[in-house]
Amino acid sequence: MPLLTLRRLSGRVALVSLAGCGPQSALNFAGTDAAEIGRLFYVMLGSAAAIWILVMGAAVWGVLRAPSEHTERHAKLLIVVGGVIFPTLVLALLLGFGLRLLERDPVPEGTLRVEVHGEQWWWRVRYEAPEGGVTVTANEIRLPAGRPVELRLTAAEVIHSFWIPSLGGKMDMIPGRENRLVLNPERPGLYRGACAEFCGTSHALMAFAVVVEEPEEFEAWLAREAAPAAPEDTMARGRELFLGAGCGGCHRVRGIVELGEVGPDLTHVGGRRTIGAGLAETSVETLASWIAAPSAMKPGVHMPGYAMLPEADIRAIAEFLYGLK
Ligand code: CUA
Repeated sequence: MPLLTLRRLSGRVALVSLAGCGPQSALNFAGTDAAEIGRLFYVMLGSAAAIWILVMGAAVWGVLRAPSEHTERHAKLLIVVGGVIFPTLVLALLLGFGLRLLERDPVPEGTLRVEVHGEQWWWRVRYEAPEGGVTVTANEIRLPAGRPVELRLTAAEVIHSFWIPSLGGKMDMIPGRENRLVLNPERPGLYRGACAEFCGTSHALMAFAVVVEEPEEFEAWLAREAAPAAPEDTMARGRELFLGAGCGGCHRVRGIVELGEVGPDLTHVGGRRTIGAGLAETSVETLASWIAAPSAMKPGVHMPGYAMLPEADIRAIAEFLYGLK
């Protein structure tokens, strides 16, 4: 093959492999479970490729190199060995290899428990708080590296599927039922999770950030997250407007307004990487756009728009929320 063509080809292969990386890739392993699934994928791929080459090789050899007649006995032997024994053996071996992955060890001591509740179209996340009780957050999951986590998965109205490709396989979230998924995150980094089951209009806009960090960083974050909101005094106007517009009827901001249960908890919303469940980077601008017209960003969203408020007021509310770190 000429060198130029070879170079072009290897460039293409590199491009294709790059498409398999990134924050939401099942081939970018950051945990032992994802690595096991990845190994299964590569074994299946390798076996399929080897068998394909074998069959194609036999076909080419039969047509070009040895186009002679077979005796009936020889032909029958070929069918029994090549058509029955060989595929049965190969499929049984691959099945056995795959079934091994279904074995689950009992949940070890010291496993972190996180509840994730699928809503349309966002994620309610509950941690056991360091001082007892529960810390509620949304749309961002932080996990300590090197410690197993048991995710308890439930759903509100419809079936969702919880999936962090870099950490492991997916698991359905079914209303009226709790499914459990144990993951072992190993490599710190920022990953992306997504809903993997069609759940309505904005299914494709139901993602979340996953932050795997060193255990000390995680503990510090959880302590901060468990604390009530502490907005700066300069945000007093935004806070008044937030309360005056009735936002607290749906959203809880611990330490300020404790009623809202319907929408995401906003106690530390400014400290999350994204708004709208992975939709846009958190900033005053994106928060203001969301408050004015959430359905323009996420069709079908339950939250009404507040475009009737003066622009300056919307910005003040957005600044107040952005300040909730
Ligand atoms: Cu939730 Cu698709």
